[in-house]
Amino acid sequence: MKFISHNIILPDGSKTMGDQRQLLSRTRAWLSIKESLDQFLPESKEHPASLKVIDLGCLEGGYATEFARQGYQTLGIEARVSNLNKCLHVKEQLSLPNLDFVQDDVRNLDQYGPFDIVLCYGILYHLDDPVAFLKKVFQQTNRMLMLHTHYAPERDWRYDLGLLNRYVIAPIQIRTHFLEHAKNYQLSRLTTNEGYRGRWYTEWPSHSSPQHIEKNYLSSYNNPKSFWLCRTDLTKALSDMGFRHVFERFDHVGKGEWTRYPRYYSRSMFIALK
Ligand SMILES: C[S@@+](CC[C@H](N)C(=O)[O-])C[C@H]1O[C@@H](n2cnc3c(N)ncnc32)[C@H](O)[C@@H]1O
Repeated sequence: MKFISHNIILPDGSKTMGDQRQLLSRTRAWLSIKESLDQFLPESKEHPASLKVIDLGCLEGGYATEFARQGYQTLGIEARVSNLNKCLHVKEQLSLPNLDFVQDDVRNLDQYGPFDIVLCYGILYHLDDPVAFLKKVFQQTNRMLMLHTHYAPERDWRYDLGLLNRYVIAPIQIRTHFLEHAKNYQLSRLTTNEGYRGRWYTEWPSHSSPQHIEKNYLSSYNNPKSFWLCRTDLTKALSDMGFRHVFERFDHVGKGEWTRYPRYYSRSMFIALK
């Protein structure tokens, strides 16, 4: 069983990815999640077993596992069976009764909720209906949403060039990083979807076989294109949903990356509280 992203330490001391990658539990990404719990839900430390957590698009189960290790009642939802099998392998090794996984589309989270804490890491930008999904997330969140997501730049001349970017500029920039002020994701021109502005991203060709989709371990599952909201539209959507407070965190990456990371990757971490 080959893990590709989450390095999880198991009870016998072995690691799912050996020494080739930092343990997930030591990454800035996980530490900033833990710090958010301490800062925004300090009482959760005292009685984690009474709080329900959901990890949406949980991949290999690393984040869900760390929540369960802290004592939270944790559920991971994952669409791909190959990823889910890795989650189940970890669960079996750890024998944590408060850790569960289901194979499902994250859009069905209302069938499992509500939850006190919702972890929405690396999944919003894989959906073609992010606003409808955020609405569901809001309805199923009792306390706090932690969101790690890409957003679409409002202005980027490369995306106005359409096919010229897709077939000429992007392949050059991806190979050489020539004049690449921000990563070239080959997004569409600026448009509107579900009443909010953003850009479309192609995940896989619409005629892809189920086997091909299954093997694209990190991509969308049920939609060939996903819609990346513009940053201001994302915060507006969170506010329109009814979240009372929205904060942005920069310390999910090392200090030296605080400025470059959001600018280059068009991606950040947000905390939304009810
Ligand atoms: C970029 S990965 C992020 C994984 C993990 N949350 C993290 O931050 O490391 C996206 C994950 O979401 C899963 N996924 C994509 N679309 C999904 C959907 N509609 N429902 C459930 N899982 C989905 C993928 O299989 C993959 O495991």
